[in-house]
Amino acid sequence: MMMVNAGKKNAALAAVKLIQDNMVVGLGTGSTAKFFIEGLAEQVQQDQLHNITCVATSIASDELGRSLGLHVVALDETDGIDITIDGADEVDPQLNGIKGGGAALFYEKIVAKASKKNIWIVDPSKQSPRLGTQFKLPVEVLPFGSHHVFNYLTDLSLDPHFRVNADGQYLLTDSANYIIDVDISEVTDLKALGDELIQHTGIVEHGLFLGICDTLIVGTEPTTILNRN
Ligand code: A5P
Repeated sequence: MMMVNAGKKNAALAAVKLIQDNMVVGLGTGSTAKFFIEGLAEQVQQDQLHNITCVATSIASDELGRSLGLHVVALDETDGIDITIDGADEVDPQLNGIKGGGAALFYEKIVAKASKKNIWIVDPSKQSPRLGTQFKLPVEVLPFGSHHVFNYLTDLSLDPHFRVNADGQYLLTDSANYIIDVDISEVTDLKALGDELIQHTGIVEHGLFLGICDTLIVGTEPTTILNRN
């Protein structure tokens, strides 16, 4: 556990070094992004960085950023984001990934698509030769009619499971939707799957982030930096 956390922190602190004065910065979600937000706030507090505006990908990151004194605004208050630093659940050698382990995939994808640069920060355990072999794919669905969407995912042989919270209730995302986690370990054409899912009425978004990450920072010691071709 310690080693995983050290990897997350190494990657996050390397990402802080990419931030420059006057940038609009996307704040990711999750334990790795938390290290980044803390590191960024420290630089701002110590007067090392100036005029930083932040856009959060979740209520949790919004609250964390504000609590540390960062200037967090809504995405629509900006003309776009210079750089977003986010974690990931599984990343392949082409820098495609699965996100949404923290149920923030919908806002994360909106923020990522509004960003000029997307940097992912991960500990080495997130690297995977093939997406879906280490992590289930989160699919965000509207509660209304969600059992019909569940049946559709069953018909696709994706072994769906509603995500539940500690009380056994369906987990609600920041936009008050459900998450259904599906098994994509047997799927070979992920682009086709993503296109199919997003066209199905009732599915709001899915956690396949293909061609979005520009640079991956792996928190090895020293860090490994991989750029998308
Ligand atoms: C949030 O929904 C996710 O996409 C996170 O970015 C991802 O789960 C990484 O989380 P950790 O940094 O906590 O592993």
